[in-house]
Amino acid sequence: MYYNGFSASVRNYVTGSALKNPHRTAPHEPPNEIMSSPDKPVIHQRLADHQAELANKSLESLFEGSGRASLFSTRAAGLTLDYSKHFCTRDTLDLFEQLAHQVNLKSHIESLFNGDIVNTTEQRPALHTALRGPAPDEEKRREIVVAKERMRLLVDSLQQRSRSGHNGKPISDVVNIGIGGSDLGPRFVVSALQAAAPAAVNVHFVANVDPRELEDTLRPLDPDTTLFITASKSFATLETRANTQAARNWLRDAGCTDLACHFVAVTANVAAAVEFGIAEDNIFPMWDWVGGRYSLWSAIGLPIAIATGWASYEALLDGAEEMDNHFRNAPLTSNMPVLMAMLECWYSDCWQAHSTLVLPYSHALRLFPAYLQQLSMESLGKSVTLDGNAVQRHSGMVIWGEPGTNGQHSFMQLLHQGTRFIPVTFIGVLPQPQDDDRSRHLFANCLSQSRALMTGKSLDQVRAELIAAGLSAQQADAMAPHRCHPGNRPSSTLVLPSLTAHSVGALIALHEHKVFTQSVMWNINAFDQWGVELGKRAASDIFAVLDSDGDTGFDDSTQQLIELYRQNR
Ligand code: F6P
Repeated sequence: MYYNGFSASVRNYVTGSALKNPHRTAPHEPPNEIMSSPDKPVIHQRLADHQAELANKSLESLFEGSGRASLFSTRAAGLTLDYSKHFCTRDTLDLFEQLAHQVNLKSHIESLFNGDIVNTTEQRPALHTALRGPAPDEEKRREIVVAKERMRLLVDSLQQRSRSGHNGKPISDVVNIGIGGSDLGPRFVVSALQAAAPAAVNVHFVANVDPRELEDTLRPLDPDTTLFITASKSFATLETRANTQAARNWLRDAGCTDLACHFVAVTANVAAAVEFGIAEDNIFPMWDWVGGRYSLWSAIGLPIAIATGWASYEALLDGAEEMDNHFRNAPLTSNMPVLMAMLECWYSDCWQAHSTLVLPYSHALRLFPAYLQQLSMESLGKSVTLDGNAVQRHSGMVIWGEPGTNGQHSFMQLLHQGTRFIPVTFIGVLPQPQDDDRSRHLFANCLSQSRALMTGKSLDQVRAELIAAGLSAQQADAMAPHRCHPGNRPSSTLVLPSLTAHSVGALIALHEHKVFTQSVMWNINAFDQWGVELGKRAASDIFAVLDSDGDTGFDDSTQQLIELYRQNR
């Protein structure tokens, strides 16, 4: 059995057949039978059957004949996706197309862009696309235009060094205080693009409530020339409020008399920001029809425009809008976000994949996996369908990743010789003419890793190499099992033509739409995040009793850990 060189027991587990034996079903693992139960759409059974067929083939065998690579590649907004190294045939695409029709994907996409209530538990639209393209109504369009003009004025004043602090010295540093969607997107884009667009003002990010992050950030800064952006859609997030308060104390301790010069806020909760002491004129709007993790296209993106310039920020929006148009209009079999979504859903539903690795072969894109973790796992980490019933198959996967080539010196060993089925997305940037050999080495490694995961190296190949290297037949027999690579491990390669605001905008929008498509396939709400509430509330309950004495009423472990603190305070 080719499947992927796994031992029989592991192969059975990974291909799902072991799930027919209840003792192997993990407590929360929905048994594979559900996939084939009569009330499940027939298409899912066909996909499960199709998986069983493909599991017996090698990826390399799918390349027999010519033209596979171009047939299983697609282009959009300047990006190229090569998904030919996946367990995917024309029949697979036909089944994906049937599935898309089955779930009315096209009408869901139109609902998204039209501002329908797609966030059903909060009764809200999700109109991040309106921030970079047409808005579904004139009122929203006007609000967006006004907000963007206010953003541009602030950005210009900072770029021209005409905005000054309380004592007239021009602002030199901007510190964004925010967390989650109010941090990860801007932080990623600024780290990706700021080298290409040296700005008049330095931009910094603080997210964690750990005092260390704000202290490290402020240590080299001058209070007289520092502007803080408090970014918080709710203006109720503990970390952001606490850090903003600490920033205000830092300014006051330095003799700052007029805080208004040193604070702006981006929030949907203007009243809370004003109550917190931020001047209303310094508050930029967010809207409840834009989700936090989808909000870098709003004033949450101020740090991006400040760090890279207004023209660059607009190019970011243009790249995203071009991907929007592709997503909305391209046929399924060439629709980049839909294809990426379908593959990931299939690997989760039928191949028992539980995590997927995102590997940007680019230092500039090093924070993309962290950004994508929130976008994907906070959107798809759900266990209830839109109609309130328990999901019948796994939903969001674990997203993880670090930049290449670094990964080759840490976790790629597991990908090559480990026992787990982990689909990979490589993200490469074409080396530019002016780059030196290191960029070409980077790109070559990106391509080589994808190829090696597919081809592997057989026992016979390894044995022959060892003997050719001078080992005896006996030595080669002993060593070869340790040196062979099962291969047959699928990956996509996504290539950016260059590292520009336009291509980064397209990259982000691509993944926003991939996540949305997956939510439609799994019939879940991509736009709420009730799961984060429990931990937040428990934290404030625990905080309230940390410094008191006696029984807390919590479980024994939490009680014991609180006592550990109490004994050492
Ligand atoms: O993680 C929960 C969450 O609400 C995210 O969805 C959001 O991006 C983040 O916290 C920050 O929320 P806010 O922008 O309201 O401070």
